[in-house]
Amino acid sequence: MRVYFDNAATTPLAEEVFEAMVPYLKNHYGNPSSIHSAGRKARAAIEQARKTVARYLNASIGEIFFTSGGTESNNMVLKGAVKKLGIQRIISSPLEHPCVIKSLKSIEEDTNVQIDWVAHDHLGRISLDQLEELLQQKTKKTLVSLMHQNNEIGNRLSLDKVAQLCAEHQALFHTDSVQGIGYQQIDLQKTNISFLSGSAHKFHGPKGIGFVYINNNNQIPPFMDGGAQERNMRGGTEHTAGIVGLAKAMTLAYDHLEERLEKIQQLRNYLVEGLKDLGDVKFNGDYLGPCHPKIINVSFPDNVKNNMLVFNLDIAGICASGGSACSSGVESASPVLAAIDPTDTRRSVRFSLSHYNTMEEVDYLLEKLKDHAQA
Ligand SMILES: Cc1ncc(COP(=O)(O)O)c(C=O)c1O
Repeated sequence: MRVYFDNAATTPLAEEVFEAMVPYLKNHYGNPSSIHSAGRKARAAIEQARKTVARYLNASIGEIFFTSGGTESNNMVLKGAVKKLGIQRIISSPLEHPCVIKSLKSIEEDTNVQIDWVAHDHLGRISLDQLEELLQQKTKKTLVSLMHQNNEIGNRLSLDKVAQLCAEHQALFHTDSVQGIGYQQIDLQKTNISFLSGSAHKFHGPKGIGFVYINNNNQIPPFMDGGAQERNMRGGTEHTAGIVGLAKAMTLAYDHLEERLEKIQQLRNYLVEGLKDLGDVKFNGDYLGPCHPKIINVSFPDNVKNNMLVFNLDIAGICASGGSACSSGVESASPVLAAIDPTDTRRSVRFSLSHYNTMEEVDYLLEKLKDHAQA
């Protein structure tokens, strides 16, 4: 049996998304900037996709820009806000995705911008009280960058509360919603967010395509120099099929949101009960509080058997993650768990679900955990 429980790293492409993309790979290959009919066909598809994304987020069409994914969107916002909006201070968290942490480190190295890190507790919950205290120090123009749903432990931030705090203290608010888009409704007319990043491959769309929402009041410069694509915001010929796929995946995600979440929640409950029965299993993050239903992060005692757990699960046909998503092909210990408790030596595993998973697959995982984990 082959089982995929690594849906926080990436999700399988939905068949319907693939079918929507194929015509733009095979037949409608015109360059969207060309003025002939083939180009116009591709352009129309891109603008239709932009309309779809804007509609689901209740944004204006002019506020959505397609990018290559979450990493680019986050870099673009953070660096662009510093460059053009006079941001002198960024408040963020050590629990952010590496593309945010590394962008902040390079901003810190290259500029005089002050980076403040907001505290969290032992469950990885961001301290909104401390955020408010930091925001009360109004000496510098501030951007708050806090992720919507944590990719490793699943904790969900209240966008409404943070947006309200930012509005009260005249700070801009960027949220990395790469794990949130497609799993929670967001109304950008009601929630005062300045910038939001999303990525298609986390909600059953293709890889290499994402978007950034840039509120009309906060214009930032283009991240890449080049042509006039994306209304001068992102040079480079658009990935038409990817953009079409992103919009289709978003449509499916939001039109079937409740049934998908219900299915994932059922799988989650079943898996959680099964994990508890294994013995000494620690659940990481705020797993009983507001969290992403698809992410379950647990850790087992530090011993030789558990050190090999992710490897042995892989041999048994089960894909799970033992640390952070490995961009270099080498899985490293989870930086999020290390930031929460640097003294914790337990072996962590993240299981992340999708609506395509089944109870039988969870049974298979639990059976293999009995063989390969020492809890
Ligand atoms: C929270 C979060 N932000 C950003 C990214 C990067 O997104 P992308 O792979 O589209 O560059 C990821 C992907 O792992 C993520 O989980």
